[in-house]
Amino acid sequence: MQIQENFPLRPYNTFGIDAKARHFSSFSSAEELEELLSIQSKQLSGSSNLPPLVLGGGSNILFSKDYDGLVLKNNIPGMEELTEDEEYVYVRAGAGENWHQFVKYCLGRDWAGLENLSLIPGNVGAAPIQNIGAYGVELAEVFWNLEAFHLQEKKIYTLTETDCEFGYRDSSFKNKNKGRFVILSVCFRLRKDPIFHTSYGSLHEELDRMGIKELTIQAISQAVINIRSSKLPDPAVIGNAGSFFKNPTVSIAEFEDLKEKFPGIVGHETLSGSVKLAAAWMIEQCGWKGYRRGDAGCHEKQALVLVNYGNASGAEILALSEEIQQSVFKKFGITLEREVNIV
Ligand code: FAD
Ligand code: EPU
Repeated sequence: MQIQENFPLRPYNTFGIDAKARHFSSFSSAEELEELLSIQSKQLSGSSNLPPLVLGGGSNILFSKDYDGLVLKNNIPGMEELTEDEEYVYVRAGAGENWHQFVKYCLGRDWAGLENLSLIPGNVGAAPIQNIGAYGVELAEVFWNLEAFHLQEKKIYTLTETDCEFGYRDSSFKNKNKGRFVILSVCFRLRKDPIFHTSYGSLHEELDRMGIKELTIQAISQAVINIRSSKLPDPAVIGNAGSFFKNPTVSIAEFEDLKEKFPGIVGHETLSGSVKLAAAWMIEQCGWKGYRRGDAGCHEKQALVLVNYGNASGAEILALSEEIQQSVFKKFGITLEREVNIV
């Protein structure tokens, strides 16, 4: 383990922002993490008082400036079946495993539950942070527990679903537990007999288009991959971090009001009786879709995705995102909340 200084972070964030870390290292076990933290507290003179920043795949982060502290890349490996009962298999993955590789590992064994979450970039350890979700499924539905290192107490805890307080793109790690824990591994409870989730509009359509006669988790995964590849920019080609904002939620009464003023507005009712609005539609209506200023832009196929065409700075992307928030508020009276973590 080596701690490097003034380390370039461009290859470590999918926005491709050219920021630097004052100090950088990676770790592959809880022991290595502890060792690095003790070096940090004793030897990294000149480093600011910033807490260590844990990085997975860097696919949900925007560096708006250099990080004047220690960036720790989590590389903890491992995928293993822990136990099983009649209905479920319990599978653990190290936080440093690539999310989609883990999905493929489970699909290959016919363990069901992750198929709708295929091809989401990033690593296993960050998946609980915002309770990743796509095509009608959220991580919370397959989550069993996780192991995390408490940075202050220097102890490893097992946290359950209750401790994680999952919500839409939300968890306790973004609220009361923010900055407290480093997630080391996550355990999932997957079904031996699948329950298929195919009601999400575009997923249903893609399965029809593929001419699937007998539904399988592998077919759902392929349909999700097809949709994602056709709509979302590949970070290897154009820098981005997926949806930049969350889809805002309003009451049914507010939705009815909005519909009178904007008949085309897109929203769907949630189980809790509110309406989730399509932020992409509102951003598009404000004229931002396909907009580009310098190398910062709003993607031409998906207005919710902000992009870096090459050499945009994080500050430029952040400034564009604030203009988008202001114009959506001006037109619709709706405040867009950021999904991406700003550093
Ligand atoms: P990072 O960006 O490295 O980190 C994200 C945050 O978690 C940071 O605050 C970081 O400090 C913290 N963190 C990371 N690892 C740990 C750890 N081990 N312990 C403690 N804190 C940690 N998300 C969805 O939910 N659904 C989608 O459909 C989706 N589609 C996407 C499509 C594209 C093209 C892209 C680029 C992104 C998309 N995302 C989506 C967002 C992103 O993939 C997820 O948020 C993913 O879980 C981020 O993982 P990561 O390892 O890259 O996290
Ligand atoms: N739409 C537009 N203009 C656009 C794009 C979409 O008007 O440019 C409208 C369409 O009417 C469409 C609706 O918005 O029906 C919803 O679009 P889409 O199905 O693409 O989903 P989204 O709301 O844009 C959300 C998630 C994605 C996730 C997909 C699929 C959030 C913030 N985003 O996007 O997650 O992959 O649904 O479930 O909830 C991410 O979190 O980074 C992410 C990519």
